Amino acid sequence: MAILVTGGIGYIGSHTVVELLQTGHEVVIADNLSNSCVKVLDRIKQLTGKDARFYEADIRDRAAMDKIFKENEIESCIHFAGLKAVGESVAKPLEYYDNNVSGTVNLLEVMRDNNVKNIIFSSSATVYGDPETIPITESCPKGVCTNPYGWTKSMLEQILMDLQKSDPEWNVVLLRYFNPIGAHKSGIMGENPNGIPNNLMPYITQVAVGRREELGVFGDDYNTHDGTGVRDYIHVVDLADGHVKALERLKPGTGLSIYNLGTGIGYSVLDVVKNFEKASGVRIPYSIKPRRPGDIDASYADASKAKRELGWEAKNGILEMCQDSWNWQKNNPNGYED
Ligand code: NAD
Ligand code: WQD
Repeated sequence: MAILVTGGIGYIGSHTVVELLQTGHEVVIADNLSNSCVKVLDRIKQLTGKDARFYEADIRDRAAMDKIFKENEIESCIHFAGLKAVGESVAKPLEYYDNNVSGTVNLLEVMRDNNVKNIIFSSSATVYGDPETIPITESCPKGVCTNPYGWTKSMLEQILMDLQKSDPEWNVVLLRYFNPIGAHKSGIMGENPNGIPNNLMPYITQVAVGRREELGVFGDDYNTHDGTGVRDYIHVVDLADGHVKALERLKPGTGLSIYNLGTGIGYSVLDVVKNFEKASGVRIPYSIKPRRPGDIDASYADASKAKRELGWEAKNGILEMCQDSWNWQKNNPNGYED
């Protein structure tokens, strides 16, 4: 029996595939390569000595997805495939709703038709909007998202909850990630954004490697200890491990489960810069810029539910996250293009 990993060539998916193969799971990947590079497959093989079966397929393509289920004995799906650039989603909402929402509905229909009813879904802390209280627990109400990307996650959570309610044979795990950073300890797999990075850590690493001149810090007047935005950064390998643990929840009768995956600790933008400088020995020039629309003061998880129910907690601290991001970037200054 195999695990279908949609989006398994991407940043979080590829690290999860490595953890799955190393813990003895058989893996089938479906990815349309819209935001990833097929060379990742070689790196997965290099790290694990094993192959994942790869299909270049779009989750919106019913025939292609059905073929995957017909050709493999799939028991569960870990569903990463999706578009994730916040700014782009504001400019192209229909593309985001089509890819993420219609794509997932298509995937779920194919799963149902093939009688595979176990799914782990990549959700996001963005579904909390601007939280009323922090740390954020899973019982905090979902909030108003500030962009179409966030709404796709919020809507898909609702769709999955409605589906599970309609048919209790479905086992659904919603994982709400906080801010994934870091890379595989080997330095041969990591985040590989196209164009100008939207997120903080890839921007910092590109400054460090000389691809960008300086970091713009978006606002220094937030209600935080140094005025810059506070987030819960989590090492991507810890996040990957959370998915392996969450597979345990896909047992008959488990139903719906929701977990925050974060460390429970918040760091400001300047805290991250300082830790990165310490980890790398490279100075990061920065200047303060206006606030970025839609950003909030602070977001960090109460991650105790995942610890209690999944036996999972993040092991890597901020310094290790910075070290591993740097190790990846300095060995691969142009990502997988080298
Ligand atoms: P990523 O872009 O690196 O990986 C997504 C993968 O999905 C890519 O390989 C892409 O080619 C593939 N894909 C996209 N649309 C597809 C489609 N229609 N059919 C098949 N494949 C498709 O992103 P990531 O950072 O690894 O994120 C994985 C998931 O986690 C996404 O759903 C994302 O929204 C979610 N998430 C990410 C973060 C984050 O900060 N990285 C935070 C919260 C949630
Ligand atoms: C972190 C902090 C910025 C870049 C986003 C998505 C969320 C989730 C994770 C995706 C903030 C500041 C950033 C820069 C900066 N998604 N910053 N200069 O916004 O918390 O979350 O990624 O799939 O849905 O919204 O992460 O890394 O963009 O920003 O000062 O060049 O760094 O203002 O305070 P964010 P981020």
